[in-house]
Amino acid sequence: SDSPCTALRGDVLSFRGDPFVDGLDASLQYERDALVVMRDGRIDAIGPAAELLPRLPADTPVEHYPHALITAGFVDTHVHYPQLPIIGARGLPLLDWLERYTFPAEQAYADIDHARAMARLYLGENLRNGITSAAVFCTVHPQSVDALFEIAQGLDMRLVAGKVLMDRHAPPALCDTAQSGYDDSAALIARWHGQGRLGYAITPRFAPSCSPAQLEAAGALWREHPDCFVQSHLSENRAEVDWVRELFPDARDYLDVYDRFGLLGPRAIYAHGIHLCEREYGRCHDSDTALAHCPTSNLFLGSGLFDLAAAKRAERPVRVGLGTDLGAGTSFSMLRTMDEAGKVAQLRDAPLSPAHALYLATRGGAHALHLDDRIGSIAPGMEADLAVLDLRATPLMAARMQHVDSLDEALAVLMTLGDDRAVRATWIAGILRHDRDHGEPVTRR
Ligand code: GUN
Ligand code: ZN
Repeated sequence: SDSPCTALRGDVLSFRGDPFVDGLDASLQYERDALVVMRDGRIDAIGPAAELLPRLPADTPVEHYPHALITAGFVDTHVHYPQLPIIGARGLPLLDWLERYTFPAEQAYADIDHARAMARLYLGENLRNGITSAAVFCTVHPQSVDALFEIAQGLDMRLVAGKVLMDRHAPPALCDTAQSGYDDSAALIARWHGQGRLGYAITPRFAPSCSPAQLEAAGALWREHPDCFVQSHLSENRAEVDWVRELFPDARDYLDVYDRFGLLGPRAIYAHGIHLCEREYGRCHDSDTALAHCPTSNLFLGSGLFDLAAAKRAERPVRVGLGTDLGAGTSFSMLRTMDEAGKVAQLRDAPLSPAHALYLATRGGAHALHLDDRIGSIAPGMEADLAVLDLRATPLMAARMQHVDSLDEALAVLMTLGDDRAVRATWIAGILRHDRDHGEPVTRR
């Protein structure tokens, strides 16, 4: 192709495989003073700057990022954009938190102007945090999906989202029916799924808010549109798990409820999965169903400690990504989320290395969504979604980095002290969409 290219120059860190399965040495790719060449929204080449620079057309813009790490953009595998107005509300147990804060806040999305304002704020925060893809819950209102997709399409983001299905145990204003939920979702699939980089997720809220008829309809819809995604919640809180056992007495366990309705498989992703038994991990593995680990949310609501080591057990590894789970989650930053995942792992007596945490936030999330052939790593042919992480974003970080003597330690400090201030730039499909120190024009080589 002779379309113009753009290049980023700096230290590049990416993953070519799953370090939990293949080991870190085989999966981590670190290249100092590299060049990432982008063309037509994709990565055209990645290699040593000294080798690639002489081969570029002379007028190719090269953006140089010293003392930074260029990584794949972050993938947030679980988030509720309508819950931005309740971030940091009291950390009640899940079921109380839903009734007291969540359901009242979600009723406002009947108004598409409110939905558009929150969607704009949400996507802007993603860019400021280096999040280039996400799997997003909207509300029960179809217009809440339209609002989000309209804006995401303008940014050319690879975004997955869906209308929440809920027909019971919620205020009447937030309930659909098995039939209307099916019809509205089918219409949204026709309107949005596969438009540019957008993907539709069939989104039953969780087993307690969906009648058997609604779960049946959700399973039927997925069979009719098998390239869509499915997203829901699983085994987050003990009281919730007990309630599911009462509501579905015939199911073997919580996961089995979804299984019976045909809602497990590739491109199905379930948030939390904290209180799972061995059978459930095995079934996630066998069915290729993924889990979204949402540590800031789990700590805020006191839901429990996700057992990452159990989920990734080598005989039957489960696909796991990281989720912010806003508004139960407490940070938009995937660096903060990685850090909290590390602390949860500490409490589980199974330390998480910083590089493993970065994997979960990038390629791991892409793998969980079965999108790792397009996003989540830096390699020729991949979509050019990149985050540039400034290792000296604050005076404290700059000072601390002087005492760092390995990549691993630098990553550890980055995820301990870093947040949105450390995101120097965010590139989506080869276009600069966030420039922290804005205004700086893309310079010539
Ligand atoms: N389970 C069902 N709905 C929700 C929600 O909105 N947030 C969380 N954290 N868990 C849920
Ligand atoms: Zn959630």
